[in-house]
Amino acid sequence: MCGIVGFIGNQDAKEILLQGLEKLEYRGYDSAGIYIIDEANKGHLFKEKGRIAALREVVNNEVASSKGIGHTRWATHGVPSVRNAHPHQSTSGRFTLVHNGVIENYQAVSDAYLSGIELVSDTDTEVIVQLIAWFAEQEELSTLDAFKKAIVTLKGSYALALMDAENPDVIYVAKNKSPLLIGKGEDFNVVCSDAMAMIQVTNQFVELMDGEVVTVTKEQIEIENLAGDKIEREAYTAELDLNDIEKGTYAYYMLKEIDEQPAVMRKILQHYQNTEGQLEIDSVITETLLASDRVYIVACGTSYNAGWVGKQLIENLTNIPTEVHLSSEFGYNMPLLTEKPFFIFLTQSGETADSRQVLVKTNELGHPALTITNVQGSTLSREAQFTLLLHAGPEIAVASTKAYTAQIAVLAILAEVVGKSKGLASDVDMIHELGIVAAGMETIVDNKEYLEELAANYLSISRNAFYIGRGMDYYVAMEAALKLKEISYVQTEGFAAGELKHGTIALIEEGTPVLALITEESIAGHTRGNVEEVNSRGAHSLVIAMENVAREGDQFVLPQVHALLTPLISVIPTQLLSYYTSLHRGNDVDKPRNLAKSVTVE
Ligand code: G6P
Repeated sequence: MCGIVGFIGNQDAKEILLQGLEKLEYRGYDSAGIYIIDEANKGHLFKEKGRIAALREVVNNEVASSKGIGHTRWATHGVPSVRNAHPHQSTSGRFTLVHNGVIENYQAVSDAYLSGIELVSDTDTEVIVQLIAWFAEQEELSTLDAFKKAIVTLKGSYALALMDAENPDVIYVAKNKSPLLIGKGEDFNVVCSDAMAMIQVTNQFVELMDGEVVTVTKEQIEIENLAGDKIEREAYTAELDLNDIEKGTYAYYMLKEIDEQPAVMRKILQHYQNTEGQLEIDSVITETLLASDRVYIVACGTSYNAGWVGKQLIENLTNIPTEVHLSSEFGYNMPLLTEKPFFIFLTQSGETADSRQVLVKTNELGHPALTITNVQGSTLSREAQFTLLLHAGPEIAVASTKAYTAQIAVLAILAEVVGKSKGLASDVDMIHELGIVAAGMETIVDNKEYLEELAANYLSISRNAFYIGRGMDYYVAMEAALKLKEISYVQTEGFAAGELKHGTIALIEEGTPVLALITEESIAGHTRGNVEEVNSRGAHSLVIAMENVAREGDQFVLPQVHALLTPLISVIPTQLLSYYTSLHRGNDVDKPRNLAKSVTVE
C-alpha cells in the first residue's frame, strides 16, 4: 500500500528511482512521483496520475541527479490525481516528503499549527510536510529536530522519506507500523518499502524499527531513537533472486505465479524435511500448539480463504478445534477465547495492517502466535512469537495464487507434524501426498488452452457468476469467486451449494454461469443435485470434478489427490479461468483497479 524509494550516491538517481517504483507498483498504482536534486542543488518534482509508465513520460530526462525520493500511490485521502500524488512539498518548496500510511490526527494537527497555510492537496501527507516546515521555520529547529517533533505530534501509521533543499545531501527517514528498509551500497545508500525495489543495486539491507529516525547520506546510515540515542544495527543479506522478480517471457506475473505452483510445493517439502527425510517443524512451535485447547486462524482476503482449508487440516490431523476469523472483524469484535488459545496469522506479505492490529492485541494478552508468511523479516513475522515461511518466492501479481496453495501446504505439514507428535494415527503420508499434488498441478497448468476456451465460453461476457461447492469445495469456491471478481470485475459469489436454494437462487436466470466444484464422494451427489436445480432455472453450469467422482459430460476433470488436499488441485483451474477471463476482457491482469497487494491501512 504505497511504495517508497530513495537514492543518494553517485549514480543516475532518476532511473534507479523509476525502476524501483516499477518493482513496487504492486503496492499501489494510481499515481506516482519523484523528486530529484540536480548537480546545482536545484530540486525537480515530477508527478503523474496512473502508472509509473505515465510518470516516465513527464520526467525530464535532461535533469542529471544523483539523489532523490519517489512514491507510487494507493489513494486513501484524496482521489488519485497529480495534485494528490506524492512527493508533497512545503509551501516554500524547501521540504519534500513521501509517505506510506495514514495519519489519524491530521485534521487536528492542521487546525493547531497550519491555519495560516494554504494546503494544495487533499492528503494527510501534505500536513506532515507543512508541519515539519513549520517547526523548522517558525521554531527554528534543525531539520532533524523538526522531523522528530513532527513525528511525536502525529498519530497513525507512516513510513516517511524527507528531503530538505537547504541540506540536499541527506534523506531523513522514519517509520511507524508501515514497512521501510535502508539499503547499503558502495558510495551510495537507498531507501525502500521492500528490498525487491532495490535488489538490482544492493542486497545489503538494514531493518528499521518503529520510533527510530535515520539520516541517510551517500556514505552513512545513522539510526537514532527519538531521545537521540545512537543505534547500531548490522545489515542483512536479502536472499532475493533477480529472476524471481522478473516476468521473463510471461505476459503477466499472475500466469508465471500460477505455473510456479508445482515447484513451490516441492520447495516447501524440501524446506520442511530434515536430513532423515522426515517432516520437521521447530519443536517449540509444535509443543506450544499441542498445549493449546483451540486454534484461532486470523487473516484477510485470499489468506482468510486458505485459513478455512487450514481449519479442516488442523481439526482432522490434530483433533484441536479451530476457528477462522477475518482480521478486520476480530480486532474489534473479539470472540470469547478459550483458556489456552493458539493464534495463527496467515499473511502472504506479513504487513497487512488489519492482521497486525489483532497480533498487537493477542501479544498484549500474552497468547502464543505463529505467523505463516512469505516474507522473512516482515512486521507480522518479527512481532509474532513464531514464524513459518511459505518459501513461495516473491508473489507480485495483486491476485494471490501461489501464496494460497503454499499456505495450505505449510498448514498441512504443520498439522501432520503436530498430529504425529500427539501420537494420533493417520493414513496420510504428507510428503508422498504433496508430491502427488505437485504432479497433479503440473497436468492442470499444462492444460491451459482448454481452460482458456472454457473461460471464453462461460465467462467472457457475463456480468455475474457463482462458484458452488460443499465442504472443502465450498472453501475453494470462496477463493475462486474472490479471484474471478478481483481481476475480471465479474460479480461472483462463492456459495455453499446447499444454501443456494435458501434465497440466492433467485438470482439465477437464463445464462448465469454456475461453476460447481465436486471433489468428495460423500457430497458429490448432493452438489450434483444443486447443479440440476440451477440448470432448471436456466444456469449455464460448468462442473469441475475430481477423477473419483467425475461423470461423463463434466467440463473439467481434476487429477486424484488425497481428500484433505483437494483444494490444492481444484483451485488451479479456477485461477486459470480468472486469468483468461480478465485477459479476454482487456483488463490489466496483474494490477486490477482499486486494489493493492500489501494493504497497510486498517
Ligand atoms: C490484499 C490483497 C489480497 C490479499 C490480502 C491479504 O487485499 O489484494 O490478495 O489476500 O491483502 O494479504 P496478506 O498479505 O495478509 O495475505
